Amino acid sequence: MIVVIGSINMDLVLRVPRMPAAGETLCGSAFHTIPGGKGANQAVACARLAAGHEPAVAMIACLGDDDFGDTLRAALVAEGIDVSHVSTIAGVASGVAAILVDANGQNSIVIAGGANDLLAPAHIDAARHLIAQASIVVLQLETPLATVEYAINLAHALGKIVVLNPAPAPAPAPAPAPAPAPAPTANLPPAMLARVDYLIPNEIEAAMLAGTAPDEVMAAAAVLRASGCRNVLVTLGAKGVHAALADGARAFAAYPVAAVDTTAAGDTFIGGFVAALAAGEPVADAIALGQRAAAWSVARHGAQTSIPHRHELFDATPLA
Ligand code: RIB
Repeated sequence: MIVVIGSINMDLVLRVPRMPAAGETLCGSAFHTIPGGKGANQAVACARLAAGHEPAVAMIACLGDDDFGDTLRAALVAEGIDVSHVSTIAGVASGVAAILVDANGQNSIVIAGGANDLLAPAHIDAARHLIAQASIVVLQLETPLATVEYAINLAHALGKIVVLNPAPAPAPAPAPAPAPAPAPTANLPPAMLARVDYLIPNEIEAAMLAGTAPDEVMAAAAVLRASGCRNVLVTLGAKGVHAALADGARAFAAYPVAAVDTTAAGDTFIGGFVAALAAGEPVADAIALGQRAAAWSVARHGAQTSIPHRHELFDATPLA
């Protein structure tokens, strides 16, 4: 079983010709509500990309008691995901994400966490039996950091493979002036990072966490590994994946594809990677499957609407 602990959002998506400037009103071309949230997207990707007969994916999460909550729960149930520990919180709104997608398929996202912000260690304790049954536990940072840390500690103590997608990345704390420049270290709790088996940031998140320049991907991955995580996979969009693994570093080229919408490409990569890892496939093959699935997802619109099923990956291809 794969357990995903994280966020569920309703995505409010507008297509725009370009990103608006501050104070500008821009005319968009289309509006859609699409199930999303990094946690839910990754759970759906795990379920759709599972190798075998039995996806066996469970989510631990919180929804509000509103219409979005009902729709978002139904979307997970339709994928066969165990939602017995997706709690509905009375009097609270479900998470939403306002997403602008420009003509190049690039996006800009603002989230209002709503019920996601109320995921607490007590929810993790209540679902301890699910975590105990899992082979892999997957988390992100759209729920409170204290809960993420608590869940990682528990999963690690139970001997599970821990995958953390550190998104959105916490901004680095401002250095107190006139302090000397600190040595680069990841700005997440070191004890938590030491229990992460696979840290999967994108290149912006990697640089923010490591305190390195945006184009210093290898340096960022090295800092993050030195901070304690066993393996770091930096997703680089069209440039592929830089993998700093316990047994050495490797670059994986991306599948060429004409991008329509990059929303949830990283989530799809993670779902494919985790599904393959859970099926016992070698890490390099799991990365390749994640990349193939991510290429499919950027060729389609939306978050959960874009995530392919495993059988599609080897059918006719959208690859350029
Ligand atoms: O990673 C994409 C997701 O980020 C969107 O679905 C949105 O809900 C935000 O969580």
